[in-house]
Parts: sequence; structure tokens; C-alpha cells
Amino acid sequence: MKNSITSNGKKFQAYKEFSGLTRIFHWIRAFAIFGLIFTGFYIAFPFLQSQPSPQPTNFLQAYIRSWHLFLGFALIGVSIFRLYLFIFDRASRLERVSFYQCLSPKVWIEQIKVYLWVGKHPHIKGAYNPLQFVTYFILAVLTLIICLTGVVLYYNVYHNGLGSVLEDYFKWFEVMCGGLANVRLIHHIVTWAFIIFIPVHIYMVIWNSLKYPNGGADAMISGLRYKKIEKVNN
Ligand code: HEM
Repeated sequence: MKNSITSNGKKFQAYKEFSGLTRIFHWIRAFAIFGLIFTGFYIAFPFLQSQPSPQPTNFLQAYIRSWHLFLGFALIGVSIFRLYLFIFDRASRLERVSFYQCLSPKVWIEQIKVYLWVGKHPHIKGAYNPLQFVTYFILAVLTLIICLTGVVLYYNVYHNGLGSVLEDYFKWFEVMCGGLANVRLIHHIVTWAFIIFIPVHIYMVIWNSLKYPNGGADAMISGLRYKKIEKVNN
């Protein structure tokens, strides 16, 4: 059979779960978020002293801040495109299909039992189980909030060019948050939500990769997942 492999006497069929763009965007966003956490915390607490110089150079804080903005706008651009792929791309059909399982209490219960080591994995239609789907949805909302607050912080420093355009479009969000000080606080608090998400996400991916022979973490690199098809009689 095409694209089939044998492991531990069981035969598996490979199928494409994540498209090339989905995988590239995953890693761009992952590295951008890492960079944003480090540069963001440095902006909040600039603990390094650059070399004193009589020349107007060594703008350490400004360089780090610039990196924060490069990565921030990269995150915004990629996230918009990623949302577009999720909604419209034919190759993202498996992701969209996963939504329907969130409506099934049976799959929820079976999935939670799996994570508590007391049940067998339910048959999952699509790319994500219900817990994953809801987690990634919450992550998307957090990404939206951190991007909106980031844009408000940005236009309050750069008042011309892009800053003035963004101010026209996003002032409502600053007002809704109750002012700039709150916007900064929300941006900072949501950073912690990402910091909590990252180790839990990595732990779950490794746990799944070790427990089930269906491709695990590799799926976000190769795009392939493996489905068991039959027992091989030796
Ligand atoms: C996961 C994504 C992000 C993380 C973890 C993050 C983290 C942070 C943190 C911790 C701060 C310091 C806040 C403080 O002063 O306490 C900060 C400041 C800031 N961030 Fe972000 N950020 C992210 C995304 C963005 C985005 C998308 C933008 C928009 C382009 C952005 C623009 C800014 C700006 C303009 C500041 C203020 C810089 C200043 O005070 O001079 N950030 N960020």
C-alpha cells in the first residue's frame, strides 16, 4: 500500500495533517513569541547598562525595543494569514472538522480520561481533540488581545505614519481598556499566559508522542500523521 509503514508488527498509513504553510507559520509564531517574551521583559525591566559613550550611540533599550516591534508585527501578519488559512484553505479541512467534536460530551469525557491515564483514546475526527481545539482557540483570543494592546502601545510612541493610521483604527480599544496604563498592564499579564501555555504545550506534545505511535511532534515538521490500518501476520 502506498505511504504505508510497519512498526511493532502493526501497519500504518501516512496522511497529510498540516500543510507546508501551516507548519512554517507555526514555527515563525513560536520563535516570534519566544523573542517577544524576552525582549518584552527587557523593555519592562531594562537591567543592562550599555557602554557609556559621549557619542549619541549605544541605544541598547531602543535596539531591543525595535526587535520587539519587528517580531510583534511579524506575529500580527502571520496570525492574520494563519486565520485565513484556517477558515478558507482546503488543506486545513482537518482542523476545521475538529470543531464538531467539541459538541460531543462523550468525546470530551473519553479524552479527559485519556489524560488521566484511565481510558482508551477515542476515535478523533480531524486534527485536534476537543481539549486541544478549545486550548488553541483561547490561545488565538490571547494572541488577538496581545496584538491589539501591542498596537495601542506602538501608536502611543510613534504618532506619525503607520502610528497615526493605527491610532485612527484602534483608539476604540484603548478607550475600552480604560486608558493606556491598563493597556500596558493587560499586555504584560497576557505575556504570563503565554509563559504558562508554552511548557504545558511542549509537555503535552511529548506525552502524546511517547504514548501513541501516530507521528506525534513530528507532524508539525513533516506534516504527516499515521493511522493504524491492519495487523501484520509474521
Ligand atoms: C506574544 C506576544 C507578545 C509578548 C509576549 C509581548 C510582551 C511584552 C512585554 C512583557 C512588554 C513590557 C510591558 C511592560 O512595560 O510591563 C511589552 C511592551 C511592548 N510591546 Fe509587546 N509583546 C507581544 C506582542 C506585541 C505586539 C504584537 C506588538 C505590536 C507590534 C507589541 C508592542 C509592544 C510595545 C509597543 C511595547 C511598549 C514598549 C515601550 O514601552 O517602549 N508587543 N511587550
